[in-house]
Amino acid sequence: MSEKPDDASRRTFLKAAAGAVILATAGGPLLSGCGKSGGSGEAGGGPALPALPYAQNALEPYISARTIGFHHDRHHKKYVENTRALAAGTPYEGLDLVPLVRKAAADTERKALFNNAAQVYNHDFYWRSMKPGGGGAPAGRMKDLLAKSFGAYDAFRKAFLEAAVSQFGSGWAWLVEDAGKLAVVKTGNADTPLTTTARPLLCLDVWEHAYYLDYQDRRADYAAAWLDHLANWDFAAGNLAG
Ligand SMILES: [Fe+2]
Repeated sequence: MSEKPDDASRRTFLKAAAGAVILATAGGPLLSGCGKSGGSGEAGGGPALPALPYAQNALEPYISARTIGFHHDRHHKKYVENTRALAAGTPYEGLDLVPLVRKAAADTERKALFNNAAQVYNHDFYWRSMKPGGGGAPAGRMKDLLAKSFGAYDAFRKAFLEAAVSQFGSGWAWLVEDAGKLAVVKTGNADTPLTTTARPLLCLDVWEHAYYLDYQDRRADYAAAWLDHLANWDFAAGNLAG
């Protein structure tokens, strides 16, 4: 894709911040565009808490309604409230979520705002990265791209689960597209590929609040259950096409 002025600055930021670690990548067709908004912004009003795209018990038995309830209604909601409070009365007030995250990422005086806004974006992306009856190897274009990029679905699965398990402390595992290549990336705390040249396709929350009620310290079991039974490949394909 042609490089826009802000692409170069984001790449510079990525190198400086090293917030995202590419773990596995290989060739694929050239794809255009950048990551899309999670859609949780109110027009002109700043970020808002989006409704879940399914019932809170829809992901059972892999993620319980209790976990989803705490996660969405308390953790995600708090990130939204913090973002709006920190943005109030500043040039960030009223910005939609994606430009807010990107602007705050480059502003060393707004680390708290970036952390909360990026968590709003990451969580909105996470809810839509899973669905009842999802998971397993995808079909169609995603199947072909994964095969070109990783050799086989099982190799992608291994790389993704390694990213999820090896992220030290809190963070995220992602499937992204960047310059025509699919890659597995992990980010710490609130860091997000949104501030890089990569386009997010899927993400898995590996903060303990995402799984501890159901899996305690067994993050590997949570990640495998998520990828095998919940991953929303339709969402990933839609992000590629957007
Ligand atoms: Fe979370």
